[in-house]
Formats: sequence, structure tokens, C-alpha cells
Amino acid sequence: MSKKRGNNTEFLQNLTISQVLKLYKQRGLPEREALILIGYAMNKPKEFVIAHDDLICPEGAINLLEKRLNGYPLQYIIGEVEFYGRRFFVEEGVLIPRWETEGLVDIAIEYIKNYDLKYALDIGVGSGVILVTLALETGIKVFGTDVSEKAINVTLKNAKRYNVECEVKLGEFAEPFIERFDSIQLIISNPPYVREGAKLQKELDFEPKQALFGGEDGLNFYRIFFNRYNIDGKIVVMEIGEDQGEVLRQLTGGIIRKDLAGKDRYLIVDRYNK
Ligand SMILES: C[S@@+](CC[C@H](N)C(=O)[O-])C[C@H]1O[C@@H](n2cnc3c(N)ncnc32)[C@H](O)[C@@H]1O
Repeated sequence: MSKKRGNNTEFLQNLTISQVLKLYKQRGLPEREALILIGYAMNKPKEFVIAHDDLICPEGAINLLEKRLNGYPLQYIIGEVEFYGRRFFVEEGVLIPRWETEGLVDIAIEYIKNYDLKYALDIGVGSGVILVTLALETGIKVFGTDVSEKAINVTLKNAKRYNVECEVKLGEFAEPFIERFDSIQLIISNPPYVREGAKLQKELDFEPKQALFGGEDGLNFYRIFFNRYNIDGKIVVMEIGEDQGEVLRQLTGGIIRKDLAGKDRYLIVDRYNK
């Protein structure tokens, strides 16, 4: 093992994959994650790693395992994440999609199908998982905005990966598409809704702050959006924090739905027939 790495991982020199797996498991890293990281370093699937766990574990893998143990998200290391059964690119600076957001997509699909909607706008695309999934699942024409240039680039990469035609522009809220706002029937968003100063798990330290925090009470995005735009003739579906349902219901006159864990998670404001 090279001397560059210093002392903390030198004890792992010349250990087999199976020995390394055991040691990292003892330190709290789930075996599945360790297998993925070793496979990633070896450019092989985890099944190969399992079948060859008597090989000496490569140095590159140890570096990745250490990074993960320090809280760096697995998805940023491997550059991919799974969402709605598909793999998407993701990188540091862009939010790692969460399972709750699949529920938001389910609701949007329900409305797109029921009302036979043709145009949707995703505000705050991030990695583009919502926009790309909606296009693939329903064929709806999708537009997207984000205040982060990196997010726009990753979204375009993911759209290309799945051959999805979309228009994605840098800017806040619906502003980049204001000229065609009237024709947009569905607005979807998973906005930043965490309260400023909230105590978060270690992994979130590595994620972009503007994707997470929504001001003192976490509601800035919703307040500005519903103040600024006339949503008559549209359906708005947004992800919300688990304790924000009641206040957002009052603010918007919408309804709240729960996620699979039974927590308030989705706001639906249906003004399609208004
Ligand atoms: C919670 S992340 C959601 C990302 C992605 N849609 C997802 O569900 O994984 C919020 C995203 O909104 C973007 N954002 C924050 N404020 C915004 C605003 N006012 N207008 C447009 N995008 C915004 C952030 O840069 C971030 O990419």
C-alpha cells in the first residue's frame, strides 16, 4: 500500500476483499455499500466482487470506503442514483433524489392521465429525475427551471441519457418560461423546504444548501410562488415538509397527501377547472 495515504488505512494493506468487508462492516458500513464501492473501484459489478472476495482489495477501493465512512454520500462517489426504476447521473452540487419524490411523481402521473395534460413545468429540476420520469411515463412535454447551473447541466445529461426532449432554463421559479406560462397546465416542484438551522444527518452536509433550506420556517418558496403566480387553470403539485401540511393547506386552499411512511408530504392545488 502506498505511503501517501498515511497511517489510518495502512493496516488494510494486502487484505483480501472478504477481510476488508468484515472490517468495514464492524465500522458500520453496510456490506451492500462496501460491495458497490469495491466493484466501482474495480470497474466490475458487485456480483463479481462477491464471487472473487479472495482477491486482494485494491487501494482505490479502500480510499472510497474511507470517504463513505466519513459521511460522503455513496451516490456522489459512484455518480449515479436510482429513481423510479431507472439510473440517473448525479454529482456534488446537485441534490440526491429521495424516495419520497417518487410519490410526488405518482401524483403528477395520476393528474396527467386523468386530465390528459400536455405541458408541465418542473421548478427546481436538480438532477432532472422528476422531469425525465414524467416525460418517459406519460409522454407529456416538459419544461424545467433551476437557479443552479450545475443542476441544469445534470438534467440535460439525464434527458439525453433517456432521449427525452425538454427545455430547461436557468432562472428562478417559472420566470424563464413566463411567456408561455398560460399554456402550462401542470406545475410540479420539490422545493427547498428545510427550516434554516435545522439539525440534519451527516450526509446532508455534502448537499447543496440552496436545494435544502427554505428560510426561517422552510416556507419561503411556497409563499413566493403562490403570491407571484396566478394558477387558475392549472394543477400544482409540490413536495412539502412533514410538519408543513396544515399551514400550506390554509395558505393555498389545496389538499395534503401522505407519503408511504404516513407523513404529510404532498400538496395538491387543483385549479384546472377555474
Ligand atoms: C430539493 S431540490 C429538488 C431537486 C429535484 N427536483 C429532486 O427532486 O431531486 C430543490 C432544487 O430547487 C432549486 N431551487 C431552489 N430555489 C429555486 C427557485 N426559486 N427557483 C428555481 N429553482 C430553485 C435548487 O437549486 C434545487 O436544485
